Order: sequence, then C-alpha cells, then structure tokens
Amino acid sequence: MKIVFAAAEAAPYAKVGGLADVAGSLPQALAELGHDVTLYLPLHGTIDRARFAVPARAPVRSVPFGAAHVRVSYPSVARDGVRVVLVSSARIGRDRVYGEKDDDRRYALFCRAVYEDLRESPPDVVHAHDWHAALLVPLVARSRGGTWRRTATVFTIHNLAYQGRTNAAILARVGLPRARMAVEGPNECNPMARAIASADIVSTVSERYAKEILTPEFGEGLQGLLRERKGRLRGIVNGIDTTVFDPAADGHIAARYDAADTSGKAKDKEALQVEGGLAVDPRAPLFGVVGRLVEQKGVDLLTASAPHLLAKGGQLVVLGAGDPSYERKWKAFARRYGRKLWLTLGFDAGLAQRIYAGADLFLMPSRFEPCGLGQLISFRYGTIPVVHAVGGLAETVRDVDADPERGNGFSFSRYTGEAFDDAIDRAMGAYRADGEAWPALMRRAMEEDHSWRASAKRYAALYRTAVRLRSS
Ligand code: GLC
Repeated sequence: MKIVFAAAEAAPYAKVGGLADVAGSLPQALAELGHDVTLYLPLHGTIDRARFAVPARAPVRSVPFGAAHVRVSYPSVARDGVRVVLVSSARIGRDRVYGEKDDDRRYALFCRAVYEDLRESPPDVVHAHDWHAALLVPLVARSRGGTWRRTATVFTIHNLAYQGRTNAAILARVGLPRARMAVEGPNECNPMARAIASADIVSTVSERYAKEILTPEFGEGLQGLLRERKGRLRGIVNGIDTTVFDPAADGHIAARYDAADTSGKAKDKEALQVEGGLAVDPRAPLFGVVGRLVEQKGVDLLTASAPHLLAKGGQLVVLGAGDPSYERKWKAFARRYGRKLWLTLGFDAGLAQRIYAGADLFLMPSRFEPCGLGQLISFRYGTIPVVHAVGGLAETVRDVDADPERGNGFSFSRYTGEAFDDAIDRAMGAYRADGEAWPALMRRAMEEDHSWRASAKRYAALYRTAVRLRSS
C-alpha cells in the first residue's frame, strides 16, 4: 500500500513529545513490512538542515490559501526506506514547533500544502496525527472525484486534550465548507472534531484510552461525537524504537548490558549518581522521572510524594520542563535535598537514556495517559515503572503484588497522594528485599517485546479496513 503520514513533529528532525517518537519510527516499521511510506513534516526553523542534508533546491507549488496563493517548497530526504518531505514556507516553519500566535494558520496551511502535493497521484491511505494535521482529513474525505476516489483516511488521536480550537474563518482559508458541527461554539472551528467526524477510521494509541475517551471523564467534551463514531474507533498500543533504546548498544551510557547479564546496570547507576552529585550508594533505591512537569503527567502527585520518597531513603533524578509554578517548586526541592535529588530542567536525549539505564525505578503518576512511552523504554532498560493505572499505563503495566508471576511494575488506581505513596513504598520494599525476586522482575521486564513489529502489522490491517470502508 501507498501510505502518507502527516504530523507536526517526528524524531530525529523535531521532537517535543511522544508524537515525535511515533511519527519517527512507525513509518519505518511499515516500510519494513513492504509498504511505500512518505512522511510529511513542516520544515521547522529548529530542524538542522545541514545535519539532515536537506536539499536547498526542491519542487515548488503555489498553494491556494484563502484569497491568496502561498509559495511552498517540498525538499525531501530518505531515512530507513521512508521518504520524508519537509514542507517549507516562512508561514509554516518557525523557531518553535508549537506556541506561536498563528499556530492555527500555520498548521492549516501545512494541511493544504500536503493536500496539494498529493493531488496528482493520491496514496491509498492518508494517515494524519493529532489536531495539527487534522484538517487534512476532511480535505481528503470530501474529494471523492477523479484521482481521489480510492484514498482512505485514518486519523490518530495522541492526545485529546489539544484540539486546535480556533476561529471558523480558518475553514474558508483552508478550503472547507463552513457548516458548524454540534460540538463547535458559534464561529468556532475544532480541527480535531472535524477529523474524528470525517475519517474512515479513527484510532488512538492504546485500547484502554480508546474506551476511556467515550466517557465524560476523559472525553474532553468530544465523548458524544466519539460515541457516534464508536464503530470506526480502534486502539493500537505504541511501540518504541528498539534500536535507539537498547541497553546493549546505547552509546550514551557508561556500561552496556542485556537481560542475560545485567551487571552493567550497576555501573550506570553509579555513573548517574556521580553525574548528578548524589550520594554514591548502590543500595539506595534510585527513581527516575523523564517527562514534562505538567498536570497531565501527574506533577501534583509527584510534588506531593517527593519528600516522602526522599525521607524513606530513596534518591530521585528528574529531567523535564513545564509549568513555571511547578518548576519553581522543584528548584526549591533541588536546593533543599542536594545529595538525594538531581533536577535538570529541559530536555536532553542522552541524559534521558542515562536515567533510563541508571535508575532502578521509574515514576509515571499521569492523571491521564493515551499510551505513554516512558514505561516501555523503562522495561527495555530493566527499570521498573511505578504508574497510575490509566490509559496506556494500565494496558502495559501489571502490578507485581496483584500478579507475582507476570507482574512487571507497580501501579495504583485512585489518583491520590496516599495511593501513590503506597505504590512507592511497595516498590522500595521489593527493591530492598534480598533474594532472586528483584533480578527476576528486571529480566522479565527486559524480555518484553515492545518493538513496533506487532503494532505495525495491526496498523497495516487497519489501513486495509479503511480502504474497504472508503470504497463501500
Ligand atoms: C502523546 C500522549 C502519550 C503518547 C504519545 C505518543 O504525547 O500524551 O501518552 O504516548 O502521544 O502516541
């Protein structure tokens, strides 16, 4: 099948969150299965053109946008069997992937520019991700004539909390009719809702989240629309790039290891303690956090439980940036607990990998989590996750105390500080217990297969269903 991906970010070109990991590795996995895959990405100002050998000369189009036409160029590069087209225009590419005043227009233009580039020979499937690429879905879905007849659309929700709501004027600009949807306010356009309403198939990144978003608690106001489209809604759990995240070959870590011989992990722990200025103590339970310090990720619980964890002899390494009020609290923690807590505000892929390798345990108390990649990467490094049982975390983490034979982590159900403290205490207890149980748990986690292999096949099946539905 000929498949086109459209997304705002993809590793290694531009990465803000988990979407980049998926858009940077699922296309490769599909290409490996023999599909012809092209990924469209905005050429953001932050993308290093020299490093990625982005050609200066490229095909150019005049893209209709409102009353005007915008000159857009389409330089492309190849990576692991995938063609990557970096959609280039001063009106799209900026210093930041998100957070510019005109994000709505930038991404609407991106959608229209992709649509124009596909016109002459449309693919079998257009697979758009999150609100930034959402308006591409109704553009394609409405084009039933001529060459577009067979093209099916798949829309994947990575995070329902961001819907791209904006003024309805964007519809005329991008080339869509103005008819209002029930979920839209007067004069409002909700790109995510429009993609959900018009895609042949809607998917999200775990089966559990696909069920959760049908409820008012997780549906972000779109639960009614999603329930209407329930027959077209699927959940496929994400994989991870197991060549990037591989303790046996990771160039960022002090010592390499695998499930058969985990001795290198102790050296990575020591190296992390030294790097972070923590007390070098092989027996102290070392907890890692890699993720944005925002409400979704449970930063309130993390902030409430950190003093408890440190008082009980744990150590904590945190890498992430986020909500300024929480950043301030964490800076104060870092001053107060110098030898026990190492805080790095920002993002650094190499440090993230040293944390995955050096930590014993990994904290993810997310309030909601469509899939979550941190717990999957942790498994790969034999680092045991402690998670709130929600979304993809509930789907992939089995509590050891509830299921001693198959357990691979610790989880708690009620979103409260006490429940999180209790899970942390159980995890520290298990870590400190002598005997074979902890090494066996580490090995079990490391032996799980979270590569894209299985999920890429499920996407291919999903595309076939979408194509069938489109032509019926
Ligand atoms: C979003 C979600 C996260 C998911 C990622 C990739 O960042 O919040 O749960 O893993 O997208 O699908």
